[in-house]
Amino acid sequence: NSNIPVIAIDGPTASGKGTVAAKVAERLSFHLLDSGALYRLTALSALRRATDMSDEHALAKVAEHLNCSFVGHDVFLGQENVTQAIRVEEVGNTASKIAALPAVRQALFGLQLRFRTAPGLVADGRDMGTVIFPTAKLKVFLTASVAARAERRYKQLIGKGFSANMDDLLADLQARDERDTKRAVAPLAPAADAYILDSSNITAEEAVEQVLRWYAEKQ
Ligand code: CDP
Ligand code: CDP
Repeated sequence: NSNIPVIAIDGPTASGKGTVAAKVAERLSFHLLDSGALYRLTALSALRRATDMSDEHALAKVAEHLNCSFVGHDVFLGQENVTQAIRVEEVGNTASKIAALPAVRQALFGLQLRFRTAPGLVADGRDMGTVIFPTAKLKVFLTASVAARAERRYKQLIGKGFSANMDDLLADLQARDERDTKRAVAPLAPAADAYILDSSNITAEEAVEQVLRWYAEKQ
């Protein structure tokens, strides 16, 4: 299925990847892979089972046996709708820690490839263009300043009814950037052939239009 087009959108936390990827997928009627959700689901599942977070093998087993499904904008673990539960910061932080473990990444590899189905896929994450879909037709690296990203995450959490503290968010965001870019396996970095899009001063809609223009140029 390597002929099925993929648009890979990678970037740091709160750069707008998820929002932009979902809108691009909608515009093209493509499937969507929120790869971060898979790491978050693994984290949530491990937290609930009280899995030893230093046991790489046990965490990989949790990833391998993830019983998850995506229905519209909702995410399920078994029968339970965990759309909200996977978005809390504790789960995000745990996800970012276990995502540094090679066995966990390996366990989620095949699952991600299965999302590549006709007519096409928009995939967002950290290593979509570099590791999972190196043959993607278009690779975008979406960034924004730390300040812009912290403010976006703040508004997003408050909007969803969570409490949030700007200083904690900034610290978390920088810690996550550090872990994502410095880990040995699949570190966050633009693919050599990625288009860099700095969205600090543009709206999500403008970012969507730019991605669609680049994709049209590739046709
Ligand atoms: O929303 P945010 O960008 O903070 O995170 P996410 O995309 O939901 O992903 C949660 C965590 O999973 C990130 O902090 C990454 O460390 C990790 N991740 C990854 O390593 N590789 C991916 N392809 C996607 C996410
Ligand atoms: O997936 P990722 O963590 O990269 O970010 P997100 O959850 O898609 O986006 C974070 C928030 O920033 C969302 O509430 C977006 O509406 C907002 N936003 C954006 O995505 N892009 C902009 N250019 C401006 C704001």
